[in-house]
Amino acid sequence: MSREAVIVDAVRTPVGKRGGQLRDWHPVDLLAHTIAYLVDRTGIDAARLADVIVGCALQRGEQSGNVARNAVLGAGLPVSLPGTTLDRQCGSGQQAVHFAAQAIKSGEYDFAIGAGVESMTRVDLGPLFVPGGGRGDWYGTRALARFDGDLPAQGPSVELVAKKWGFTRQQLDAYSVQSHRRAAAASDAGHFASALVPLDGTDKNGNTVALSRDEGIRFDIDPERVAGLQPVFSPDGLITAGNASQMSDGAAALLLAERGAAEAAGLRPRARIVSMAVAADDPVLQFTAILPASQRALEQAGLTIGDIDLVEVNEAFSPVPLLWREEFGYPEEQLNVNGGSIAIGHPLGSTGGRLMTQLVNELERRQARYGLLTICEGGGMANASIIERLD
Ligand SMILES: CC(C)(COP(=O)(O)OP(=O)(O)OC[C@H]1O[C@@H](n2cnc3c(N)ncnc32)[C@H](O)[C@@H]1OP(=O)(O)O)[C@@H](O)C(=O)NCCC(=O)NCCS
Repeated sequence: MSREAVIVDAVRTPVGKRGGQLRDWHPVDLLAHTIAYLVDRTGIDAARLADVIVGCALQRGEQSGNVARNAVLGAGLPVSLPGTTLDRQCGSGQQAVHFAAQAIKSGEYDFAIGAGVESMTRVDLGPLFVPGGGRGDWYGTRALARFDGDLPAQGPSVELVAKKWGFTRQQLDAYSVQSHRRAAAASDAGHFASALVPLDGTDKNGNTVALSRDEGIRFDIDPERVAGLQPVFSPDGLITAGNASQMSDGAAALLLAERGAAEAAGLRPRARIVSMAVAADDPVLQFTAILPASQRALEQAGLTIGDIDLVEVNEAFSPVPLLWREEFGYPEEQLNVNGGSIAIGHPLGSTGGRLMTQLVNELERRQARYGLLTICEGGGMANASIIERLD
């Protein structure tokens, strides 16, 4: 019988603004705390875990030297448990879940953790991402020469995408206001609460406080202020701080298992991973691979978009979910129903785990069946996953 990869449980920290409530957390400690909570809450015998796979996009400074292994040690888990850290840019956390699920399906692992972490407070995006900043030397001379020296950072790329799809500033801002309103409503209604890792943070005055919500959400968003924000990446551009994802801190972790092994261990699977895809497209436009990745995930699953009850398209910038929605003709009421990275924030490596957690919870809350998650990734790549809620 073929092996199935299931999600046993999924948790995430409240997201902090850059320099905000999670600023005093070393990213390895934040991840260790998140993983330790997941292990404790599920009751999994840690000796049965085969690996801890972690997405982290900015592997410099405090996030270098394999955060996954260091977090295992920090979490007090057995020293015999390995860990590895990967970089699929903004989709790193989603890729970590995929690699864990793929190892489970292949028969190599029975239990593994797929997780993600990023502290954009303690490790910054780098010079390429400063509006008007220089070229990143990570491209190497050959890749740059292949594209006439013009491989833009995400900001200038998304301006090209917004132009290509003909979006107006009003459309982009309306989308971002909706993201805040949906996230605020979900947060106020307590829809995020069951997935949040209990932890302390630091408030504006330097006091230690118990955190219970995401710091980036504007609960009283003012559309006029959003409309008045200046473009950040070019003077006549459409992208502002209001319709871009926020720079943030956070961590997320999921326990993945082979379905039979989970059940035999007395663990109730919450969702089944139906299909997993990765795709790449134009590295100049950068945000378009969510289309072939989603299509591939649907084909692998033998489903059509009409079968999918809920979709999460990472809100890297407003044009990204908008172009996905336009190309798939998908109902607005089923897409990013609890807001996204524009309102909540986008701690890069952690976002895939946060969105997967969100999808599992929301499928359960609505008693719906299939959910699709796709994340655009620097360099023009994207991951897509389809999951099915299990009773
Ligand atoms: C767009 C970007 C450059 C803005 O950075 P920033 O200037 O540090 O952003 P801030 O949060 O400080 O916002 C700037 C200003 O806009 C205001 N603002 C932002 N969003 C707002 C909103 N929704 N409503 C009203 N005001 C808003 C802030 O209050 C701030 O005002 P202030 O200067 O008076 O304090 C940054 O968020 C970014 O690069 N995002 C994308 C990150 C990225 O590339 N991720 C990877 C790829 S997806």
